[in-house]
Amino acid sequence: MLTPRLQVIADMVEDQANVADIGSDHGYLCIDLMKKGRIQKAVASDLNAGPVENLKKTIAVHGLTSSIDIRMGNGLDPIQEGEVDTVVIAGMGGVLISEILLAKRSLWKGTTFLLQAMTHRDSLREFLHHHGFMFIDEAVAIEGKKYYEVMKVRYVDDTHRDMMDTDDYYLGPKLKKKTDEVTKKFYMYLLHKYSTILKAVNESGRNVEQRELLEHQVSKVEAILACL
Ligand SMILES: C[S@@+](CC[C@H](N)C(=O)[O-])C[C@H]1O[C@@H](n2cnc3c(N)ncnc32)[C@H](O)[C@@H]1O
Repeated sequence: MLTPRLQVIADMVEDQANVADIGSDHGYLCIDLMKKGRIQKAVASDLNAGPVENLKKTIAVHGLTSSIDIRMGNGLDPIQEGEVDTVVIAGMGGVLISEILLAKRSLWKGTTFLLQAMTHRDSLREFLHHHGFMFIDEAVAIEGKKYYEVMKVRYVDDTHRDMMDTDDYYLGPKLKKKTDEVTKKFYMYLLHKYSTILKAVNESGRNVEQRELLEHQVSKVEAILACL
């Protein structure tokens, strides 16, 4: 069984997709999707020898050695153009995810990317918006007290710009339209986070710019919550 974070990613994979999981590590996503017959092809790839050894063992235990292609390499390097239609990059920092994408632009066209950043999610959205990716869907997973945002994006072209403003980088352009309980809890968490920082900034009596930004962010999140 997948963790809630990996399940949200799995739910966003289109049926009978050809999937590459970059930074696959344990390989659970590919294993689950393949076992359920949800995908036609799976490539599980990782940069490091340790995870690749894990992948080999875990995939063998599940009897999937002939169904899941295991590769070793940096980012998208091990993936050839046209080989897969879906690329998952999850559990890494947002900056690293941007770097991985930027290093192989030839894979952008025609690929659906499912991205889940552990840090710098705002910067990742800004990067995607700036480079002409369209946001197809977003969802939040909750594990204990932690929230994980998953983005489903497709490249259109460098001149394309989704109708997004800079607030969408932290709010999530598709997420802000969702009404489910987990999304609602996520915005309550964001409100608490921004309000707490704002309180500390107010108490310090410094940093007017940061205070104004935080006040703006608090009001934006409050407006979303008011509609939920
Ligand atoms: C925290 S694990 C995430 C595993 C899995 N994707 C998940 O979300 O549960 C990060 C994995 O990414 C791999 N990794 C880090 N940098 C990478 C890169 N540039 N290219 C490919 N894999 C990388 C690490 O070796 C590690 O196995």
